[in-house]
Amino acid sequence: MQIKTVGVLGCGLMGAGIAQVSAAAGHKTIVREVTQGALDKGLGRMRKFLDDGVTKGKVTAEQRDTTLANLSGTTDFAAMKDCDLIVEAIVENIDVKAGAYAALEAIVGAQTIFASNTSSLCITELAAKTKRPDRFGGLHFFNPVPLMKLVEVVRGLTTSDETYQSLMAFSAAIGKEPITAPDKPGFIVNRLLVPYLLDAIRCYERGLGTVEDIDKGMKLGCGHPMGPLTLLDFVGLDTTYYIANIMFDEFKEPMFAAPTLLKRMVLAGKLGRKSGEGFYKY
Ligand code: NAI
Repeated sequence: MQIKTVGVLGCGLMGAGIAQVSAAAGHKTIVREVTQGALDKGLGRMRKFLDDGVTKGKVTAEQRDTTLANLSGTTDFAAMKDCDLIVEAIVENIDVKAGAYAALEAIVGAQTIFASNTSSLCITELAAKTKRPDRFGGLHFFNPVPLMKLVEVVRGLTTSDETYQSLMAFSAAIGKEPITAPDKPGFIVNRLLVPYLLDAIRCYERGLGTVEDIDKGMKLGCGHPMGPLTLLDFVGLDTTYYIANIMFDEFKEPMFAAPTLLKRMVLAGKLGRKSGEGFYKY
């Protein structure tokens, strides 16, 4: 199915970015938030990103204006009735997501595809909460969405070939590089990244090196853009702890077990950049 009109549920960190890239690629895009305040904040963030892009010469004024003309915001589910695809990027809670799908299914046509941007929930389980498990898949974007090229297209057990092909085509149409990921915790990227981050904490705990030397080692020795402890502060230690627990619960392998230091830093409120302190002070 060719996707022309796109709905985005949630205009937070991820939803705003997804709506922006969709509109920039020429799709009529409608983004829904719970309150007008949250919507205005998200739309304002998009506008600022585009204005800054014009100032820096990365986006033309015309591209900015076209993107904004393709975008509209709403707090009403009914405004999404003609969407070919709805990308859900709301809070990571299965009951809240299921409630939003039910509200949408009362409005949209049978052909509309639903995709979740979930980082940690099971796509097959989310699909089973709807009446369209074959027209449901995962579209896992990376933060910041307008700058990160990758999208993981996740096939649940019930995702049809046609839905999968539509999600791959949509990802390419919005200028992203899609990869096909399995419906398993962490998909591909976090499956590899999370054990690495947890191991970096374990190594630090065991005295392998200082925070600075561990980061410098991986940055300069492996050409990574940042060291693992800096990256943990960016992602948020609470988020990493949450994802590690989900992965450990599913795979039962020691490499996914949260190190004792990670749990204690989370309990102490040292969550990384967002709390002002993690492995570094901000
Ligand atoms: P966020 O907290 O920045 O935004 C979520 C937004 O959804 C909030 O503004 C909230 O008001 C809104 N919302 C809640 N219920 C809603 C509903 N029924 N309809 C419309 N809007 C609703 O969260 P963030 O970080 O954008 O995460 C959203 C999703 O994206 C989660 O599933 C998360 O796992 C996933 N994700 C997050 C990444 C990240 O780096 N933050 C990366 C990849 C995926």
